[in-house]
Amino acid sequence: MIKQESTSPILCIVGARPNFMKIAPIMRAFAAERLPAMLLHTGQHYDRDMNDTFFNDLGIPKPDFNLGVGSGSHTQQTAQIMLRVEPILNQLNPSAVLVVGDVNSTIACALVSVKQGIPIIHVESGLRSNDRTMPEEINRILTDQLSDLLFTTEPAALSNLQREGISPERVHLAGNVMIDTLHFNLPRAIPYRTTIEHLGIADSLPTLTEGYALLTLHRPSNVDNLETLESIVSTINQLALQLPFIFPMHPRTRDRLERFNLLGKLDNKRIITTPPQGYLQLLGLMKDSRIVLTDSGGIQEETTALGIPCLTLRENTERPITIHQGTNTLVGRNPELILRAFHQGLEPNPKRSEPPKHWDGKAAIRIAATVKAWLASLPQNNHNAPS
Ligand code: UD1
Repeated sequence: MIKQESTSPILCIVGARPNFMKIAPIMRAFAAERLPAMLLHTGQHYDRDMNDTFFNDLGIPKPDFNLGVGSGSHTQQTAQIMLRVEPILNQLNPSAVLVVGDVNSTIACALVSVKQGIPIIHVESGLRSNDRTMPEEINRILTDQLSDLLFTTEPAALSNLQREGISPERVHLAGNVMIDTLHFNLPRAIPYRTTIEHLGIADSLPTLTEGYALLTLHRPSNVDNLETLESIVSTINQLALQLPFIFPMHPRTRDRLERFNLLGKLDNKRIITTPPQGYLQLLGLMKDSRIVLTDSGGIQEETTALGIPCLTLRENTERPITIHQGTNTLVGRNPELILRAFHQGLEPNPKRSEPPKHWDGKAAIRIAATVKAWLASLPQNNHNAPS
């Protein structure tokens, strides 16, 4: 048994773009509570556009460790993270490992931690789409099973966790750290005009006087299949006749559009494609848009917080509160349904949004206070890491 030092840091893990917005307020709140914390980046996302920009915009401290794993199949990525994180955990012996969200980095680090006997904190636990073909769903279920302290964003998460046998004492409704980041940065959001001028595309644009729709797309279920992606392109072309689109493109989506010969089929007079945007740019693009079409989890939440109508191009969502209480509508990939919902979304009184409980910019503060008390209650020598 290794004796646990009370000053051991909490090791916080990030890997992919949606993790960065979640970790920023947590690191700030830990510092405010004087909880020692270190940051490990797995390197799952590595492009300047997908990574560095976010660290700069969000003021995230430089990671103490970077595993540099990069892209690969799910197995390669997960296995590489596990192999590379193990010696760091052995050497550091953290008081806990904190993981966020549902990406491959989340499950990989949780799995190594549990084998080392290191307590695991999971932020954004209990979300379930009930669609096991989504890689994120598997990551969520397994990470929650391994975690000791679980923070949720919405009440439905607790029922999901209880159904899977997780004791409610370990679960805390903290609110949404992604919305902490939104509130914190809203005053600095970059107006869409500045972004398109900076990209040098302002002159080639259709007039945006009547506004624009924002599109983001990256899920394998939408972009990896030729027929599916072709149908989405054709539907977006149709919608764009009514309202121009701005479409920041994830690298996976650009790759698939090129490979399937579909990039040229997007109506380039009405659909403006851009590289992936930084956080402050995307926040501005969302805030200034009339409607958002997306398959992202985070954007469903952000549009609810902003009160912007959102059409989710998926058959299910793990974030039901954005539908019941927010501005989100599930439209799947059915062109007629999308068209109808698009028209409804543009009407003067689209779905009203009521901010869900604790989506108030203070979720990370609640998390830090709970973590502090929980750490103090842990036995000092609860590790069984190999000696
Ligand atoms: C990952 C997450 C997903 C999240 C998304 C946000 C998993 C299982 N999925 O999906 O939940 O919504 O991040 O972006 O963890 N690529 C680059 N540069 C980069 C990163 C990726 O070019 O910096 C390209 C590579 O070709 C790579 C592909 O994008 O193969 C996909 O990246 P990957 O990390 O495997 O998954 P995402 O689709 O980004």
